[in-house]
Amino acid sequence: MQTETSPSRETLPASSAPAAGAAHVRRLQQAYSIEALRQIARRMLPRAVFDFYDGGAEDEATLRANRAAFGRHAILPRYLVDVSQIDTAVDLLGKPAALPLAVAPTGAIGYGWPFGDVAIARAAGAAGVPYALPTSSTSSIERVAREAPQTRLWFQSYMLRKRDFTMGLIKRAHDAGYEALIITIDMPTGGKRERDLRNDFGLPFRFTPRNVLDFASRPGWVARLARAGMPVLENMLGFVPDTLDSSTIASSVGKNYDPAFNWDDLARIREAWPRRMLVKGVLHPEDAGRVAALGCDGLVVSNHGGRQLDGAPATLDALPAIAREVGGRLDVILDGGVRRGTDVVKALALGATAVMAGRPLLYGVSAGGEEGAARALFLFRDELLRAMRLSGLASARAIGPDLLAPPPGR
Ligand code: FNR
Repeated sequence: MQTETSPSRETLPASSAPAAGAAHVRRLQQAYSIEALRQIARRMLPRAVFDFYDGGAEDEATLRANRAAFGRHAILPRYLVDVSQIDTAVDLLGKPAALPLAVAPTGAIGYGWPFGDVAIARAAGAAGVPYALPTSSTSSIERVAREAPQTRLWFQSYMLRKRDFTMGLIKRAHDAGYEALIITIDMPTGGKRERDLRNDFGLPFRFTPRNVLDFASRPGWVARLARAGMPVLENMLGFVPDTLDSSTIASSVGKNYDPAFNWDDLARIREAWPRRMLVKGVLHPEDAGRVAALGCDGLVVSNHGGRQLDGAPATLDALPAIAREVGGRLDVILDGGVRRGTDVVKALALGATAVMAGRPLLYGVSAGGEEGAARALFLFRDELLRAMRLSGLASARAIGPDLLAPPPGR
């Protein structure tokens, strides 16, 4: 996808991510929704990989709640407004973004498409939206900076028990020119993801007769991986010496989240990081107030896409109280279940500055590399433009609470 702000292809360095073939591209053009991309990804990926991306924790109640919350709000449109020109841009961390959207950090993308992190980062740059690279990416901090130089890059970090290693990653992101640091706080331990356990995609990851058969059932996927090699969590090289297989490293990372990480530690990171900083995984308004008081530039209202605490509230339900609490002191980004342009409108109407999308980009990149990621972003943009026109909104910056219908009975 190209926009007015996108660089010409010739100026971009070569990508490590293989391009999608002509058949892929044709199929992508007929994917008219994020759900359609999800269905393509489901057909292309081994079940264990698809479920790892698609699934949530335990009964997946929070995963479903994220989606269901959008269904409980209705947009009350206004007509006879001049909507011939639509401005979808908003200011995000002090700079305009072409859409009120950023790509959420998601780990292990290389299982969906070789160097899928690079592919998504490049698509994000072309769409004029920021991309967040996770600690557990399959392309290093430096590789993404080199291969997606036009993209606004944010680096997401967990706090590992080996704090020096974490601080080393943060320094690398600084040296590679990342614009912002995201600290994710909702992972004092890993959520219980039962699909992964059932599929033998659990930690520690093992090749077993069951998952080998599953992997073998997707020869196209196997061929792509065979050409590119097994994904490696490139940022973690050196974390477990002599262990290059990503799944083994992931398992050791899983055991190495630091459950002692607390507000004092967060304050120290805020002091040490000189650029923009976001805190991701906020659900309680008082925590939001503390993040604002620390001088952070943004927070992400997030339950990790329903992958951590099953039983946590839907993010859209948690959003209004948080937006009231911080009162415009910092950017409020919402993630979890955002799949449609109308979802973006509803989140902004309830107080978000912007949204983040995680799985939609995973589905897109798994369905067709950079082109698939671009298709997901195209769908968001196209649907947002349409939703704004149909609602009588000329500017995303003007979206407010008056746009929503009062709850039935009021
Ligand atoms: C994630 N998420 C995540 N978050 C984070 O801070 N660091 C990470 O490494 C990951 N990894 C990750 C992997 C996968 C496969 C998924 C699906 C999610 C959570 C992510 O950033 C975001 O909060 C959710 O994905 C948002 O929900 P949706 O858009 O996927 O519904």
